[in-house]
Amino acid sequence: MKLSTLLLGGIATLVGAQTAAPYTDAKSGITFQAYQHTTGYFLGIALPDDPTGNTDFIATIGGKGTGWSGASLAGPMKNALLVLAWPNSNAVVSSFRKTAQYGSPPVASGTFTQLPIANGTYVNGTHWTYTFVCSKCIQTDGTTFTANANSTILGYALNAAAPSNKSNATSSVSKHTSQGQVTFDLVKARSKDFTTWKGWAAAPKVQ
Ligand code: HEM
Ligand SMILES: *[C@@H]1O[C@H](CO)[C@@H](O)[C@H](O)[C@H]1NC(C)=O
Ligand SMILES: *[C@@H]1O[C@H](CO)[C@@H](O)[C@H](O)[C@H]1NC(C)=O
Ligand SMILES: *[C@@H]1O[C@H](CO)[C@@H](O)[C@H](O)[C@H]1NC(C)=O
Ligand SMILES: *[C@@H]1O[C@H](CO)[C@@H](O)[C@H](O)[C@H]1NC(C)=O
Ligand SMILES: *[C@@H]1O[C@H](CO)[C@@H](O)[C@H](O)[C@H]1NC(C)=O
Repeated sequence: MKLSTLLLGGIATLVGAQTAAPYTDAKSGITFQAYQHTTGYFLGIALPDDPTGNTDFIATIGGKGTGWSGASLAGPMKNALLVLAWPNSNAVVSSFRKTAQYGSPPVASGTFTQLPIANGTYVNGTHWTYTFVCSKCIQTDGTTFTANANSTILGYALNAAAPSNKSNATSSVSKHTSQGQVTFDLVKARSKDFTTWKGWAAAPKVQ
Protein backbone atom coordinates (compact mmCIF):
# COMPACT_ATOMS: atom_id res chain seq x y z
CA MET A 1 0.00 0.00 0.00
CA LYS A 2 2.69 2.43 1.03
CA LEU A 3 4.86 1.65 -1.98
CA SER A 4 2.07 1.98 -4.51
CA THR A 5 1.05 5.30 -3.00
CA LEU A 6 4.59 6.57 -3.44
CA LEU A 7 4.86 5.33 -7.00
CA LEU A 8 1.50 6.70 -8.08
CA GLY A 9 2.61 10.16 -7.01
CA GLY A 10 5.53 10.17 -9.43
CA ILE A 11 6.25 10.12 -13.10
CA ALA A 12 8.21 6.88 -12.56
CA THR A 13 5.13 4.74 -13.10
CA LEU A 14 4.60 6.20 -16.57
CA VAL A 15 8.11 6.36 -17.99
CA GLY A 16 9.08 3.61 -20.37
CA ALA A 17 5.94 1.61 -19.75
CA GLN A 18 4.51 2.34 -23.22
CA THR A 19 1.05 2.39 -21.71
CA ALA A 20 -1.14 5.21 -20.53
CA ALA A 21 -2.09 5.81 -16.90
CA PRO A 22 -4.50 8.13 -15.07
CA TYR A 23 -3.33 11.73 -14.91
CA THR A 24 -5.12 14.82 -13.58
CA ASP A 25 -4.00 18.21 -14.84
CA ALA A 26 -3.78 20.41 -11.74
CA LYS A 27 -4.75 23.60 -13.55
CA SER A 28 -7.90 22.33 -15.24
CA GLY A 29 -8.78 19.51 -12.87
CA ILE A 30 -9.51 17.26 -15.86
CA THR A 31 -8.53 13.59 -15.53
CA PHE A 32 -7.07 11.81 -18.55
CA GLN A 33 -5.59 8.47 -19.47
CA ALA A 34 -2.15 9.77 -20.36
CA TYR A 35 1.17 8.65 -21.72
CA GLN A 36 4.28 10.43 -20.57
CA HIS A 37 7.65 10.21 -22.30
CA THR A 38 11.03 10.72 -20.58
CA THR A 39 11.52 13.96 -22.55
CA GLY A 40 8.51 15.54 -20.83
CA TYR A 41 6.18 14.86 -23.77
CA PHE A 42 2.68 13.83 -22.74
CA LEU A 43 -0.59 12.88 -24.41
CA GLY A 44 -3.86 12.33 -22.57
CA ILE A 45 -7.40 11.43 -23.63
CA ALA A 46 -10.75 11.83 -21.84
CA LEU A 47 -14.02 10.40 -23.16
CA PRO A 48 -17.71 10.50 -22.23
CA ASP A 49 -19.23 7.89 -19.98
CA ASP A 50 -21.37 6.44 -22.77
CA PRO A 51 -19.35 5.87 -25.96
CA THR A 52 -22.39 5.06 -28.12
CA GLY A 53 -22.27 7.20 -31.24
CA ASN A 54 -19.69 9.51 -29.71
CA THR A 55 -17.48 11.56 -32.05
CA ASP A 56 -15.75 13.81 -29.53
CA PHE A 57 -12.99 13.63 -26.94
CA ILE A 58 -10.88 15.93 -24.82
CA ALA A 59 -7.13 15.69 -25.32
CA THR A 60 -4.16 17.18 -23.55
CA ILE A 61 -0.83 17.32 -25.32
CA GLY A 62 2.37 19.06 -24.40
CA GLY A 63 6.01 18.80 -23.58
CA LYS A 64 9.03 20.34 -21.97
CA GLY A 65 10.78 23.23 -23.70
CA THR A 66 9.83 24.81 -27.00
CA GLY A 67 9.70 21.92 -29.46
CA TRP A 68 6.72 20.26 -31.11
CA SER A 69 4.56 17.36 -29.92
CA GLY A 70 2.41 15.25 -32.20
CA ALA A 71 -0.15 12.48 -31.90
CA SER A 72 -1.64 9.91 -34.25
CA LEU A 73 -5.27 9.18 -33.42
CA ALA A 74 -4.96 5.75 -35.06
CA GLY A 75 -1.41 4.70 -34.10
CA PRO A 76 0.64 4.87 -37.29
CA MET A 77 1.89 8.07 -38.86
CA LYS A 78 0.56 7.36 -42.32
CA ASN A 79 -3.15 7.58 -43.26
CA ALA A 80 -4.13 8.65 -39.76
CA LEU A 81 -5.58 11.86 -38.38
CA LEU A 82 -2.65 13.61 -36.67
CA VAL A 83 -2.58 16.46 -34.17
CA LEU A 84 0.52 18.67 -34.23
CA ALA A 85 1.14 21.39 -31.63
CA TRP A 86 3.89 23.61 -30.26
CA PRO A 87 4.25 26.63 -27.98
CA ASN A 88 4.62 30.16 -29.35
CA SER A 89 5.53 32.50 -26.47
CA ASN A 90 2.60 32.13 -24.08
CA ALA A 91 0.21 30.61 -26.60
CA VAL A 92 -0.03 27.20 -28.21
CA VAL A 93 -0.38 26.68 -31.97
CA SER A 94 -2.10 23.53 -33.19
CA SER A 95 -3.37 21.91 -36.37
CA PHE A 96 -4.70 18.69 -37.81
CA ARG A 97 -2.38 16.92 -40.24
CA LYS A 98 -2.61 13.87 -42.48
CA THR A 99 -0.19 12.20 -44.87
CA ALA A 100 0.04 9.12 -47.08
CA GLN A 101 3.84 9.15 -46.95
CA TYR A 102 6.60 9.88 -44.48
CA GLY A 103 7.60 13.53 -44.49
CA SER A 104 6.32 16.72 -42.86
CA PRO A 105 2.54 16.09 -42.93
CA PRO A 106 0.34 18.73 -44.58
CA VAL A 107 -2.69 20.25 -42.86
CA ALA A 108 -5.77 18.01 -42.96
CA SER A 109 -9.21 19.35 -43.74
CA GLY A 110 -12.48 17.86 -42.62
CA THR A 111 -15.41 18.54 -40.30
CA PHE A 112 -13.24 17.92 -37.20
CA THR A 113 -12.42 20.94 -35.05
CA GLN A 114 -10.34 21.79 -31.97
CA LEU A 115 -11.46 24.22 -29.29
CA PRO A 116 -9.14 24.99 -26.36
CA ILE A 117 -9.98 24.72 -22.68
CA ALA A 118 -8.43 27.87 -21.21
CA ASN A 119 -7.16 26.68 -17.83
CA GLY A 120 -5.75 23.51 -19.39
CA THR A 121 -3.78 25.51 -21.94
CA TYR A 122 -0.67 27.21 -20.61
CA VAL A 123 3.06 27.69 -20.83
CA ASN A 124 4.86 27.62 -17.49
CA GLY A 125 8.55 27.80 -16.56
CA THR A 126 9.35 24.38 -17.95
CA HIS A 127 6.44 22.93 -19.88
CA TRP A 128 3.66 23.82 -22.27
CA THR A 129 0.23 22.22 -22.19
CA TYR A 130 -2.61 22.32 -24.69
CA THR A 131 -6.00 20.96 -23.67
CA PHE A 132 -8.80 20.96 -26.20
CA VAL A 133 -12.13 19.50 -27.14
CA CYS A 134 -11.76 17.60 -30.37
CA SER A 135 -15.21 17.68 -32.01
CA LYS A 136 -16.26 15.30 -34.79
CA CYS A 137 -12.77 13.83 -34.48
CA ILE A 138 -13.63 10.14 -34.09
CA GLN A 139 -13.83 8.78 -37.63
CA THR A 140 -15.07 5.48 -39.02
CA ASP A 141 -12.59 5.28 -41.91
CA GLY A 142 -9.66 3.88 -39.94
CA THR A 143 -7.91 7.23 -39.50
CA THR A 144 -8.74 7.31 -35.77
CA PHE A 145 -9.77 4.95 -32.98
CA THR A 146 -13.46 4.05 -32.97
CA ALA A 147 -16.17 5.25 -30.58
CA ASN A 148 -16.88 1.85 -29.04
CA ALA A 149 -13.25 0.68 -28.73
CA ASN A 150 -12.37 -0.33 -25.18
CA SER A 151 -8.67 -0.04 -25.89
CA THR A 152 -6.61 1.48 -28.67
CA ILE A 153 -3.11 2.24 -29.81
CA LEU A 154 -2.19 5.89 -30.31
CA GLY A 155 1.01 7.25 -31.81
CA TYR A 156 3.31 9.86 -30.35
CA ALA A 157 6.08 11.88 -31.95
CA LEU A 158 8.16 14.79 -30.77
CA ASN A 159 11.12 16.98 -31.53
CA ALA A 160 12.77 19.41 -29.10
CA ALA A 161 13.31 21.77 -32.05
CA ALA A 162 10.57 24.29 -32.80
CA PRO A 163 9.20 24.59 -36.34
CA SER A 164 10.80 27.27 -38.53
CA ASN A 165 7.85 29.66 -38.16
CA LYS A 166 6.14 29.13 -34.80
CA SER A 167 3.31 31.58 -35.54
CA ASN A 168 2.31 29.73 -38.70
CA ALA A 169 0.00 26.82 -37.82
CA THR A 170 0.60 25.26 -41.22
CA SER A 171 4.38 25.35 -40.82
CA SER A 172 6.40 22.29 -41.76
CA VAL A 173 8.39 20.54 -39.03
CA SER A 174 11.60 18.53 -38.88
CA LYS A 175 11.30 14.78 -38.38
CA HIS A 176 10.69 13.60 -34.83
CA THR A 177 13.63 12.60 -32.69
CA SER A 178 11.39 10.14 -30.80
CA GLN A 179 8.25 8.37 -31.92
CA GLY A 180 6.27 5.27 -31.07
CA GLN A 181 2.94 3.72 -30.26
CA VAL A 182 1.22 3.37 -26.92
CA THR A 183 -1.76 1.38 -25.65
CA PHE A 184 -4.57 3.43 -24.14
CA ASP A 185 -7.29 1.85 -21.99
CA LEU A 186 -10.29 3.80 -23.29
CA VAL A 187 -12.64 2.41 -20.64
CA LYS A 188 -10.49 4.14 -18.03
CA ALA A 189 -10.51 7.31 -20.17
CA ARG A 190 -14.31 7.58 -19.78
CA SER A 191 -15.78 9.95 -17.20
CA LYS A 192 -19.22 11.10 -16.13
CA ASP A 193 -17.66 14.60 -15.83
CA PHE A 194 -16.89 14.70 -19.55
CA THR A 195 -19.90 16.84 -20.46
CA THR A 196 -19.00 19.39 -17.79
CA TRP A 197 -15.38 19.55 -18.93
CA LYS A 198 -16.41 19.82 -22.56
CA GLY A 199 -18.51 22.86 -21.70
CA TRP A 200 -15.36 24.71 -20.62
CA ALA A 201 -14.03 24.91 -24.18
CA ALA A 202 -14.18 28.30 -25.84
CA ALA A 203 -12.49 30.21 -28.62
CA PRO A 204 -9.23 31.76 -27.37
CA LYS A 205 -9.34 35.49 -26.66
CA VAL A 206 -6.02 36.12 -28.38
CA GLN A 207 -4.20 33.84 -30.79
C1 HEM B 1 9.58 15.79 -41.65
C2 HEM B 1 8.67 15.25 -40.83
C3 HEM B 1 8.51 13.77 -40.62
C4 HEM B 1 9.17 12.70 -41.19
C5 HEM B 1 10.27 12.71 -42.25
C6 HEM B 1 8.63 11.49 -40.59
C7 HEM B 1 9.03 10.19 -40.89
C8 HEM B 1 8.69 9.06 -40.20
C9 HEM B 1 9.25 7.74 -40.40
C10 HEM B 1 10.28 7.38 -41.48
C11 HEM B 1 8.68 6.91 -39.49
C12 HEM B 1 8.93 5.40 -39.28
C13 HEM B 1 9.85 5.19 -38.11
C14 HEM B 1 11.24 5.72 -38.39
O1 HEM B 1 11.87 5.23 -39.34
O2 HEM B 1 11.70 6.64 -37.71
C15 HEM B 1 7.76 7.69 -38.70
C16 HEM B 1 7.01 7.22 -37.64
C17 HEM B 1 6.05 7.96 -36.96
N1 HEM B 1 5.71 9.29 -37.19
FE1 HEM B 1 6.64 10.54 -38.48
N2 HEM B 1 7.66 11.84 -39.67
C18 HEM B 1 7.54 13.21 -39.66
C19 HEM B 1 6.66 13.96 -38.91
C20 HEM B 1 5.70 13.45 -38.07
C21 HEM B 1 4.69 14.22 -37.37
C22 HEM B 1 4.54 15.73 -37.45
C23 HEM B 1 3.94 13.32 -36.63
C24 HEM B 1 2.75 13.57 -35.71
C25 HEM B 1 2.03 14.67 -35.69
C26 HEM B 1 4.50 12.00 -36.86
C27 HEM B 1 4.05 10.83 -36.26
C28 HEM B 1 4.69 9.60 -36.35
C29 HEM B 1 4.34 8.47 -35.54
C30 HEM B 1 3.23 8.41 -34.49
C31 HEM B 1 5.21 7.44 -35.90
C32 HEM B 1 5.26 6.04 -35.26
C33 HEM B 1 4.28 5.12 -35.87
C34 HEM B 1 4.71 4.71 -37.25
O3 HEM B 1 5.84 4.17 -37.40
O4 HEM B 1 3.93 4.92 -38.19
N3 HEM B 1 5.54 12.11 -37.75
N4 HEM B 1 7.77 9.00 -39.15
C1 LIG C 1 -11.15 25.35 -15.05
O1 LIG C 1 -12.08 26.24 -15.63
C2 LIG C 1 -13.46 25.89 -15.44
C3 LIG C 1 -14.34 26.92 -16.12
O2 LIG C 1 -13.85 27.33 -17.31
C4 LIG C 1 -13.78 25.83 -13.98
O3 LIG C 1 -15.13 25.44 -13.80
C5 LIG C 1 -12.84 24.83 -13.30
O4 LIG C 1 -13.09 24.81 -11.91
C6 LIG C 1 -11.40 25.24 -13.54
N1 LIG C 1 -10.50 24.24 -12.95
C7 LIG C 1 -9.82 24.48 -11.84
C8 LIG C 1 -9.00 23.34 -11.29
O5 LIG C 1 -9.83 25.55 -11.27
C1 LIG D 1 4.39 23.00 -15.57
O1 LIG D 1 3.45 22.20 -16.24
C2 LIG D 1 3.77 20.84 -16.23
C3 LIG D 1 2.75 20.12 -17.11
O2 LIG D 1 1.47 20.35 -16.67
C4 LIG D 1 3.81 20.30 -14.82
O3 LIG D 1 4.17 18.93 -14.81
C5 LIG D 1 4.84 21.09 -14.03
O4 LIG D 1 4.82 20.68 -12.69
C6 LIG D 1 4.56 22.57 -14.12
N1 LIG D 1 5.65 23.31 -13.52
C7 LIG D 1 5.44 24.33 -12.71
C8 LIG D 1 6.68 25.00 -12.21
O5 LIG D 1 4.32 24.67 -12.37
C1 LIG E 1 -16.24 -3.23 -24.66
O1 LIG E 1 -16.52 -3.84 -23.42
C2 LIG E 1 -17.93 -4.06 -23.21
C3 LIG E 1 -18.11 -4.53 -21.77
O2 LIG E 1 -17.27 -5.62 -21.51
C4 LIG E 1 -18.42 -5.06 -24.25
O3 LIG E 1 -19.81 -5.25 -24.09
C5 LIG E 1 -18.15 -4.49 -25.64
O4 LIG E 1 -18.51 -5.44 -26.62
C6 LIG E 1 -16.68 -4.13 -25.81
N1 LIG E 1 -16.51 -3.44 -27.07
C7 LIG E 1 -15.66 -3.84 -28.01
C8 LIG E 1 -15.63 -3.02 -29.25
O5 LIG E 1 -14.92 -4.81 -27.88
C1 LIG F 1 5.18 33.32 -40.10
O1 LIG F 1 3.83 32.98 -40.22
C2 LIG F 1 2.98 34.06 -39.91
C3 LIG F 1 1.55 33.55 -39.87
O2 LIG F 1 1.28 32.64 -40.88
C4 LIG F 1 3.20 35.16 -40.96
O3 LIG F 1 2.36 36.26 -40.70
C5 LIG F 1 4.65 35.58 -40.94
O4 LIG F 1 4.89 36.50 -42.00
C6 LIG F 1 5.58 34.41 -41.11
N1 LIG F 1 6.96 34.81 -40.90
C7 LIG F 1 7.92 34.49 -41.77
C8 LIG F 1 9.30 34.97 -41.39
O5 LIG F 1 7.71 33.84 -42.79
C1 LIG G 1 3.06 28.99 -43.56
O1 LIG G 1 3.73 27.77 -43.81
C2 LIG G 1 3.33 27.14 -45.02
C3 LIG G 1 4.00 25.78 -45.05
O2 LIG G 1 5.37 25.85 -44.93
C4 LIG G 1 3.72 28.03 -46.18
O3 LIG G 1 3.31 27.43 -47.40
C5 LIG G 1 3.03 29.38 -46.04
O4 LIG G 1 3.48 30.24 -47.05
C6 LIG G 1 3.36 29.99 -44.70
N1 LIG G 1 2.55 31.19 -44.50
C7 LIG G 1 3.10 32.36 -44.20
C8 LIG G 1 2.14 33.51 -44.10
O5 LIG G 1 4.30 32.53 -44.00
